[in-house]
Amino acid sequence: MRKLMILGAGISQVPLIKTAKEMGLYVVLLSRQGNYPGFSLADKVYYEDTTNVDKIVEIARIEQIDGICTTGTDVAVKSIGKVVDVLGLSGLSYESSQLSTNKWEMKKAFMEHGVRTSKFLKVESKEEAYRAFEVLSPPLIFKALDSGASRGIVKVVDVSQADYAFEEVRKVTKLDYFIAEEFIEGTEFGAQAFVYDNEIQFIMPHGDTMFYGDAGVPIGHYVPYYLSNEVVEDIHNQIEQSIRALCLNNCAINADFILKDQKVYVLEIGGRAGATCLPELVSTFYGFNYYEQMIKAAIHMDPVFHKQTSQPCACELLIAEKSGEIVKLENGNESHEDIIQISFDYEIGETISKFKVGTDRIGQVIIKGAHLEEVLKRLEKVMENIKVTVS
Ligand SMILES: Nc1ncnc2c1ncn2[C@@H]1O[C@H](COP(=O)(O)OP(=O)(O)O)[C@@H](O)[C@H]1O
Ligand SMILES: [Mg+2]
Repeated sequence: MRKLMILGAGISQVPLIKTAKEMGLYVVLLSRQGNYPGFSLADKVYYEDTTNVDKIVEIARIEQIDGICTTGTDVAVKSIGKVVDVLGLSGLSYESSQLSTNKWEMKKAFMEHGVRTSKFLKVESKEEAYRAFEVLSPPLIFKALDSGASRGIVKVVDVSQADYAFEEVRKVTKLDYFIAEEFIEGTEFGAQAFVYDNEIQFIMPHGDTMFYGDAGVPIGHYVPYYLSNEVVEDIHNQIEQSIRALCLNNCAINADFILKDQKVYVLEIGGRAGATCLPELVSTFYGFNYYEQMIKAAIHMDPVFHKQTSQPCACELLIAEKSGEIVKLENGNESHEDIIQISFDYEIGETISKFKVGTDRIGQVIIKGAHLEEVLKRLEKVMENIKVTVS
């Protein structure tokens, strides 16, 4: 029986674990301890910090795994790169994992390879934070390099907010520096893609529904995302250059973009699939099981990214307006063939947080339909019929 190691046991990894089991694989799951839903689904569990690169390599060796995979988060990507290199598996390299999980290294590589990205500089002290307002054109955005899900990402309109933003980023990052970059006023969107055997297998641009707190947090996505041919070509070029810049291969790609004046700016690129139901949207839109192809790519089993349809679909996270204990969960929606999924991450009696960052999600809804307009209308209605009451 082939062995697949999956890093992370959270809500984003659950469908990946389930798919691996359906494919008849033996799943070795690694995650730090916690109330994570993936643990009960795996064949074997190791309670380890998935950022502990050496430990993960040691376990991968002991288990003699055939492949390693994650989805929805950058947290474990460096460990994947290392295991891939040391054990000679299929996946992104360690170098690539380092470049794609540190926004400073990433942006430097982007500049060297002509990827369009906003101007930026490194900040190591408060003085440098103030100086950023002289060198760059505000508003700026201060960014922790080693986080995700919009944690440690703070928009700063002018220098008077620099102290606050500096402290906010420092609270999140484990590093002693971060970056300040120019804020791009435009439309945020993204793309899912896959590069296998050094060839781009597909690029699926998607619209993003944003929630605005300290910075933007994507809470929903939809496809197709209608763009002019020029912009589609630009996306292709930016992704191709980014792949070169970050040496990405044999991995999923999660791209964050901003469109301004019909030009695509790359915010960041991850060497793994996106969270927030994005793999489900790829599967629904193209008509192949994306999780299955990710797994096949990881165990050298000839993944096939055969686009059979272009089925309009959308998803949105369920989020809470205030923190507290759930006292009531109501879903007033009748089942319908176009409602692909309505799921809650929590049960009555559990405590949830007021939504600030992506990981505060409390559930998700996925809808399909004949036209995008119809999909978005149905999504809105379905969302209205779901009520979560907290004490
Ligand atoms: N240069 C920028 N201009 C405008 N908005 C930005 C910029 N950088 C980040 N953002 C906003 O902050 C969010 C998070 O930033 P991102 O670099 O993607 O980090 P994360 O790893 O948290 O996803 C983005 O989705 C976007 O809404
Ligand atoms: Mg992002």
